[in-house]
Amino acid sequence: MKKFLVTGGDGFIGTGICEMLSNNNIAVTSIDNRSRNKKFNINNSYKSINCDITKMESLMKIPGTFDAIVHLAFINGTKYFYEKPDEVMKVGIIGTYNIINYAQKKKIKNFYISSSSEVYQKPNNLPTNENEIMKVPDAYNPRYSYGASKIITELMSIHFGKKIFKKMVIFRPHNVYGPNMGNEHVIPEIINKIKYAIKNKKKYIKVQGTGNETRSFNYIDDFVQGVSILLKSKLKFETFNIGNNDEIKIDKLIKIIMRIMNVKLKIKYGNLRVGSTSRRCPDITKIKKLGYTQKIFLEEGLRKTIDWYIKN
Ligand SMILES: NC(=O)c1ccc[n+]([C@@H]2O[C@H](COP(=O)([O-])OP(=O)(O)OC[C@H]3O[C@@H](n4cnc5c(N)ncnc54)[C@H](O)[C@@H]3O)[C@@H](O)[C@H]2O)c1
Repeated sequence: MKKFLVTGGDGFIGTGICEMLSNNNIAVTSIDNRSRNKKFNINNSYKSINCDITKMESLMKIPGTFDAIVHLAFINGTKYFYEKPDEVMKVGIIGTYNIINYAQKKKIKNFYISSSSEVYQKPNNLPTNENEIMKVPDAYNPRYSYGASKIITELMSIHFGKKIFKKMVIFRPHNVYGPNMGNEHVIPEIINKIKYAIKNKKKYIKVQGTGNETRSFNYIDDFVQGVSILLKSKLKFETFNIGNNDEIKIDKLIKIIMRIMNVKLKIKYGNLRVGSTSRRCPDITKIKKLGYTQKIFLEEGLRKTIDWYIKN
């Protein structure tokens, strides 16, 4: 039986990936300091160890060794990039450095690391493919603590990884969404604002930006399918976008969410967070060639997500 170590395996994406691995008869150990997911489910089908990846001595106490590492642990959620950029960089850079060192000491040859669409910032090309220039537009803007850390961890995985790994795959998620994704992302923020307005009999919700910004949302099951394909494919050192091409304006997204929630509220727009990109849409030609297809479209994915946020 193959054994995988998943860092950040108790988080939103981590839970999906760990379950997919377990369903594929892989023994999974998640390491997570549980800083994010307060709703951690102890009945999960995989083992979870409370471990902080910034502490090398804690990593060295993990029993056994593994065939592969899926490295997801990071401080995610836009508000945290602005509020605690130092912590974002510490977990991102020191944590990844430790994980790569750990892999070397334990002779683990397969490494999968989650980067982000945030490495492209405001891309020159849309849809954006993997060859797009990665940027840090302003070192003083705390938002870029996250994108910059992702760029550095990609470079570390490639250049330290050359001496360690046989297979090293970087994947760049683009706005993954679904049930239990936390509250610090576009879709749950909108759902929660609508829930609050209904409860408090307000006639409007306030939203950041003009409403004309676009994103392309990727339902968690489709995203996990993408990762599963990368795990099974014969690859050496490669980088992939995972997402889809359904680019949608935020204004339209809000109206769909309101329709599903059966409510019509006024939308008051405000300023966009400094440094946020106005459009995001990945070119997914590369992963499609390996067999990736979108199975859950926005309306269906939103219904499942809204259902969860209404019940929880
Ligand atoms: N969700 C998205 O749309 C999206 C988009 C782009 C990139 N990503 C990347 O995908 C990965 C998973 O994202 P997610 O949405 O599941 O986020 P998440 O916050 O739900 O999961 C991250 C997990 O890492 C854990 N963690 C944080 N600091 C840690 C530390 N010091 N030691 C051990 N564990 C620690 C958290 O407790 C959390 O469970 C991250 O690398 C994230 O940057 C996600």
